[in-house]
Amino acid sequence: MKKSNFISYKFSQISEEESIQNSEEFYRLMKTRRTVRTFSKKKANDEIIKNCIKTAASAPSGANQQPWHFVVVTDPSIRKKIRDAAEKEEIEFYSGRAPEEWLNALKKFETNEVKPFLEEASHLIIVFQKSYDIDSDGNKLKIYYSKESVGISVGMLLTAIHNAGLVSLTHTPSPMNFLNTILNRPENEKPFLIIAAGYPADDTKVPDIKKKSFEEITTFV
Ligand SMILES: Cc1cc2nc3c(=O)[nH]c(=O)nc-3n(C[C@H](O)[C@H](O)[C@H](O)COP(=O)(O)O)c2cc1C
Repeated sequence: MKKSNFISYKFSQISEEESIQNSEEFYRLMKTRRTVRTFSKKKANDEIIKNCIKTAASAPSGANQQPWHFVVVTDPSIRKKIRDAAEKEEIEFYSGRAPEEWLNALKKFETNEVKPFLEEASHLIIVFQKSYDIDSDGNKLKIYYSKESVGISVGMLLTAIHNAGLVSLTHTPSPMNFLNTILNRPENEKPFLIIAAGYPADDTKVPDIKKKSFEEITTFV
């Protein structure tokens, strides 16, 4: 008889009341998350960052292929290289490459080509997305729903960072291929996002933006 690959799932039942309370408390916690663009130089404990990445790596993924790789950068000389390369791309972005419509959408964030957080935030977590895998014989293996999977994983990473009492910034210099060179990552990995994580600067301000209402974004049928 063929041996089953299934194991018992340990479901811990909680009351409906507790479930509602948990969901409300979690919502209250998560709605205080904001993208922060000014960081303190205070170092976050590596253990926190490790746990947040382990949380991200527990995410579901297409066919459980886990098409992600996280590079944690704290070395000042590597961070300088990343900042220099990112700012080079951003100068081009803000001075011509970006279409007017995109620049208009960014106006309320008052962002520009200067990116000090790349050197100041406690940790940079560079998330790479695998576009294909390579088996032990060197054959290319297709990955299913790679982008969706990495997106879910990063969502869990940002949630874990906030839950741990740190702040984060999702940064996407465009293009980002310089990260493969600086961080020596293989060709089948594409830079997905840079997550700067740490503590906010004392005088941190965030743009006064609103989230869409629940009614606007939800349909029950
Ligand atoms: C995919 C993605 C890319 C982003 N890229 C940048 C970026 O390059 N620079 C930046 O300052 N913010 C960036 N952000 C942050 C958004 O501007 C921010 O999430 C949005 O304005 C909502 O604000 P909140 O995170 O405080 O709720 C990015 C966010 C996402 C999800």
